[in-house]
Amino acid sequence: MQIPFNKPYFTGNELKYIEDLFNSVQNGENGSHLSGDGKYTHKAQEFMETKFGAKKALLTTSGTSALELASHALDFKPGDEVIVPSYTFSSTVNAILLAGAKPIFADIQEDTLNIDPEDIRRKLTPKTKAIYPVHYAGVSCDMKQIMEIAAENDLKVVEDAAQGVNAKYKDKYLGTIGDFGCYSFHETKNYVCGEGGALLINTDDQAMAERVEIIREKGTDRSKFFRGEVDKYTWVDLGSSYLPSDILAAFLYAQLEKLDEIQEKRMKVWNAYYDAFKPFEDEGKIRLPIIHDYTKHNAHMFYILFEDNETRNNFMNELKKKGINSVFHYIPLHSAPFGLKLGNNEGDLPVTEDISKKLLRLPLYAGMNDEELEYLLTCLMEKLKKL
Ligand SMILES: Cc1ncc(COP(=O)(O)O)c(C=O)c1O
Repeated sequence: MQIPFNKPYFTGNELKYIEDLFNSVQNGENGSHLSGDGKYTHKAQEFMETKFGAKKALLTTSGTSALELASHALDFKPGDEVIVPSYTFSSTVNAILLAGAKPIFADIQEDTLNIDPEDIRRKLTPKTKAIYPVHYAGVSCDMKQIMEIAAENDLKVVEDAAQGVNAKYKDKYLGTIGDFGCYSFHETKNYVCGEGGALLINTDDQAMAERVEIIREKGTDRSKFFRGEVDKYTWVDLGSSYLPSDILAAFLYAQLEKLDEIQEKRMKVWNAYYDAFKPFEDEGKIRLPIIHDYTKHNAHMFYILFEDNETRNNFMNELKKKGINSVFHYIPLHSAPFGLKLGNNEGDLPVTEDISKKLLRLPLYAGMNDEELEYLLTCLMEKLKKL
């Protein structure tokens, strides 16, 4: 049997909504267009505002562009520093650099694999302006400590919740706690539209929130014009194009509508893995994800930590022979070629470097059938017994 690492899940309404959009544009229905900020964009944004409790949600072309949009709105000056984990996707740190600030890498905690608040404190300088916590695997960072550090030092917080849609820290949805929250709807995420994302704006700083809309709309105040707040729109600031087509929003809305159903299906696989592998953890052969009481995770990812790099690599190759595609990541950004060029060094972040050598991600998708799951559990347990 061949088991892919990921397989997008379709709810059945994606094409229906795209067809509806097609018809309403063809019929010239008021407010219907194929470009951004059309009727499905508004439906998707309203859904996120209501469900997650964000003050404002704006669809973007990707999680990457949500991070860039937030970063530009923070208006960094040369020399400003942003504390960020190295154990993340390149987009988190590219966004900081593209907005003109300097990323300062902090190590992660061994338990959650999220940014370590103690290391954030060690990395603070008078130049620190923001913290970018990443909710790895849809498991919450220690947001109480992070928000305390931010408040004590007058720092902005941008949550990279690309993997954390529909997950919680205590009773708050990830992405709604910091000044900004960034979601991804890339094909590899829990809720998808191919390429897409959203920026959640939680700040009370009205000027900064308005600036986001302007940057997203090519530096114009077109959003104000659409709301009837100005009688013509014009170029008022630097900006770019971060609006996805309403066709993608129609696709996404069909996914958001079935948000909890999709999460339940993923959770079934996550729990089946956890229960089956727990005895091997108890024997000391592997380590499984640690979920603290403050987290309600979203089953974005299931990983196993092996004793060392060789054991992890051998295990992955053995699975491949059985047709099972597992993957590892990340090459820590500080020790990746561009990270080294920026002046970082191998050995800077011991926990990050250690974890990245030992972690293996297993196939996890909402549409996994019982036969596939059974096959996975049988093969994996057979291999784990041999460790
Ligand atoms: C932690 C993290 N940040 C940012 C991104 C970027 O999201 P997108 O692929 O939608 O641009 C991803 C996606 O892989 C991610 O996992």
